[in-house]
Amino acid sequence: MIKVSIIGQGYVGFPLAIHAAIAGNTVVGYDNDKSKISDITQGRYPISGLDTNSISLLLGSNMYIPTYDPTLISESDIIVLAVPTPLDSNGNPDTSLLEDAARTVSNNCKLTALIINESTSYPGTLRNLVKPIFKSKLGHKLLFASAPERIDPGNTKWGMKNTPRVIAGLDDIATQMAVKFYSKFCNKIHITSKPEVAEAAKLFENTYRQVNIALVNELSNIADVIGFSTHETITAASTKPFGFMPFYPSIGVGGHCIPIDPSYLAFSAESAGAEAKFINLANLTNLAMPKIIAERIKIFLDGNLIGKKIQIAGIAYKPNISDIRESPALDLIKELTALGASVSWHDPFVTKYNDQQSSELNSEIDLGLIVTPHSQIDFSVWKVSGTKVLDLSANIINFGWPKFL
Ligand SMILES: NC(=O)c1ccc[n+]([C@@H]2O[C@H](COP(=O)([O-])OP(=O)(O)OC[C@H]3O[C@@H](n4cnc5c(N)ncnc54)[C@H](O)[C@@H]3O)[C@@H](O)[C@H]2O)c1
Repeated sequence: MIKVSIIGQGYVGFPLAIHAAIAGNTVVGYDNDKSKISDITQGRYPISGLDTNSISLLLGSNMYIPTYDPTLISESDIIVLAVPTPLDSNGNPDTSLLEDAARTVSNNCKLTALIINESTSYPGTLRNLVKPIFKSKLGHKLLFASAPERIDPGNTKWGMKNTPRVIAGLDDIATQMAVKFYSKFCNKIHITSKPEVAEAAKLFENTYRQVNIALVNELSNIADVIGFSTHETITAASTKPFGFMPFYPSIGVGGHCIPIDPSYLAFSAESAGAEAKFINLANLTNLAMPKIIAERIKIFLDGNLIGKKIQIAGIAYKPNISDIRESPALDLIKELTALGASVSWHDPFVTKYNDQQSSELNSEIDLGLIVTPHSQIDFSVWKVSGTKVLDLSANIINFGWPKFL
């Protein structure tokens, strides 16, 4: 039986720990946030959609051990880093949490272990940032591999099992050991020649989305000025059976991936002397959307938002999850408030934000905005009352109101 430790028990590390334990490994789920660990032990999991009975069984049989005690890592044959890699206040990669986590592992792991990095970062992170942290143990049998996570929280079609995993070790033994580990709970593995390719592929996937979302947001702005429907245009363009893939406009991008990962690629490019023009422009385009849309809403409400009551349905960055990191809904709230509106919000997954509670959907408002249409939201209050509503969501489900973007 392989002993595994997963460092970080969040959106990525927790489901990984559960899948690895179900596959027959004994798994230590280490997190340095005590409240995260106590939440998990009390049945409050970082993500929904996993089989809670299986998790209880794994906890009961010690196949999955959530802990904030790093010494429990010491027995592990495989240790996976799954900690946040955000941006700093200058918009550059902040790898300090990854470095902290690697230091914790280095101080506690045995001399023969495979260290895998799943945290998203720029090409060269495994070789030049993570590995050197283990310098006191190098020369022993430590192995290193990169296996970037591609999870899409809330996605019921594509999960850990059926989303192919890209893997590369710093040497062949590391690659083979990582492949053996992931093959137990992932149907398809793609091996790259070196970790830098796996790291770059992860960044490029999300950059592809970021740039295409920016492009369609720009189309929405163009359509608004010229006077045609973006959605009808996308529907028409989508009839082309080749060479086109639809993206839909929105108030911007959110979460821990699309607004952040491309900046890791841009940073990496610019540090090496290459340009990242598309990435930087796409960032600016997406970041500008909440302000542009607030102005468009102002025009829609007769050019004046002062004192207008606006309610937003869904402030998480995407449907059916509670994550509000980088959510553009929060910027839209700020922009509408700055224009004089009184903004409330309803989100069944987010109970509190900025000392404000989620409010029930109500019809005592001047305008309802659909931003993140969680499937739990019951829009009947707005429908029955004939409330004025704009659908700003990128979601293609039609809620009965015309798309505004
Ligand atoms: N959330 C996603 O959709 C997603 C998808 C693919 C990849 N990723 C990448 O996976 C990585 C993790 O993201 P996440 O969404 O799981 O973050 P998260 O914030 O949900 O969870 C990370 C956990 O790591 C813990 N942590 C931080 N520093 C630590 C340390 N030094 N030691 C132990 N625990 C520590 C935090 O307390 C937290 O519980 C990031 O690099 C992210 O870009 C995220």
